[in-house]
Amino acid sequence: MDEFHREGDVLHCEDVPLADIANSAGTPAYVYSHAALYRSYRELDEAFDGLDHMVCFAAKANGNLAVLRALASFGAGVDIVSGGELYRAMRAGFDPKKVVFAGVGKTEAELMAGLGERILLFNVESAAELEHLERMANVYGKRARVALRINPDVEPETHEHISTGHGGSKFGVAVEEALALAERIKGYRCVDLIGVHQHIGSQITKPEPYKESVEKSAALVDELRSRGFDIQYFNIGGGLGIKYKDEETFSPKELVDAIRPTLEATKTKIICEMGRYIAGGAGVLLTSVIYRKKSGGKSFLVADAGMNDLLRPSLYDAHHEVEAVGPNGSLESADLVGPVCESGDYLARDRELPDAREGDVLAVMNAGAYGFSMASNYNSRLKPAEVMVRGERWSVVREREHYSDLVRGELVPAFL
Ligand SMILES: Cc1ncc(COP(=O)(O)O)c(C=O)c1O
Repeated sequence: MDEFHREGDVLHCEDVPLADIANSAGTPAYVYSHAALYRSYRELDEAFDGLDHMVCFAAKANGNLAVLRALASFGAGVDIVSGGELYRAMRAGFDPKKVVFAGVGKTEAELMAGLGERILLFNVESAAELEHLERMANVYGKRARVALRINPDVEPETHEHISTGHGGSKFGVAVEEALALAERIKGYRCVDLIGVHQHIGSQITKPEPYKESVEKSAALVDELRSRGFDIQYFNIGGGLGIKYKDEETFSPKELVDAIRPTLEATKTKIICEMGRYIAGGAGVLLTSVIYRKKSGGKSFLVADAGMNDLLRPSLYDAHHEVEAVGPNGSLESADLVGPVCESGDYLARDRELPDAREGDVLAVMNAGAYGFSMASNYNSRLKPAEVMVRGERWSVVREREHYSDLVRGELVPAFL
C-alpha cells in the first residue's frame, strides 16, 4: 500500500490524516513516512540478495536525524560528503564501519574527522586529496582506507545539474588517472587502496548507463588486482530515479539484474548509496494557500511554502504532483507560487491544480529527498518543521525555526 493514500476523502500518511499534522504542527512542514523509508530500503537490500553488499543512504538527500536514525536501525550504511554529514551520521548512530565519504573538496579537518572515526572508506577524487590524506594519516598515526572514485565517462541522460559521470565533470578521475594514482599509493605508508567507486548522476531512469559504467569500473577492479591491490569493495553509487510524473522508471531488482553478472565477477562487497530512491517518495511538503490571485490572465495560488523550502522546481524545473489534503474537488489551471521575491519562486507552474480556497492545505508529493536538505533562509524565511509518522504515531522531528534562529551567530561590532 502507498504510505501516502486516501482514506475516504482524506489524504493520510500511514494512519495519520495529514490535515491533523498541518493543524497542530502548522505549515509549511515536511512529513516523512517511516514505513516508506523501510520499504524502499528493503527493496534495495533484497535486490542485492545473493551478493555480499551494503545499501548506504546518501545523507545529502535528507539529513534529518530521525530519518538517519531510522535508516541506521534498518541496517543501512551512509554516504557522506562533508564533516557536517559525518557529524549527523555519528549523532544518528551509524556504525563508522558503514560510512563512506565522497566529495571533491574534503578539507583537512574533514579528512581528519573521518580518520578519527575510522570510517570504512574515503572515496578519493583527486591526486591532491590523496596526498593530503596520506599526510594527515601519517601525522596522526592512522590508516586511511581508500576507494578511487572513477569517472567512467558515460552519459546518464538526466538533468545536466545532476549528471556527474561524464568526461569533463569535476567528479572523480579518469580510468587512466586512477591507475596512475594507484601506482602512487604504492609509495604511500598510510593509505590502503581497497575499493573502486563511481557515481554517474541522479534521477537516472534507464539501466543502460549503469551497465556501461559498471562494466568500465569492474574492469578497473580487475586491473588493480592484477597490479597487486587487494580490492575488496565496489561502490556503484546512487542515482536510481523515482516517478515524479510519468517517467518510465526501473526497479532496484531490474537494476541489479542488469549488472549482476558483472558485479558477481568482481568478487567484491558491493556498495550502493541511494538517496532519492530511499527518501524521495517517503516525504511530502504540506503548505497552506494564503491567497488566490489573478494576473495577466493567469490564476495563482500563493502558498506559505516557496523556493526556499523546496528548491527543486525553481532549480531544475522539476515536477511535483500537488494534492489537496482534504477531499479531492475540482481542478483549475493555475500556478502554485511561494512568497519569495523571485519570479522563479514556484512549486508548480501551468498546471491543473486543486481548486483550493484560502487556508486550504496542499501536499506537494515526493518531496522527501533534496527537499529540506536544500532549504535556505532566503528572504529571512524560517525553515519549515519536519515531522515523522510511524503507524498512528507522529512527532515533530525538527522544530520550525524561530526568528532568533535567523540571527544566531550574527554580531553587531562595537565600531558601528
Ligand atoms: C557521490 C554521491 N553518491 C550518492 C548520491 C545520491 O544520489 P541519488 O539521491 O540520486 O541516489 C549523490 C548525489 O548527488 C552523490 O553525489
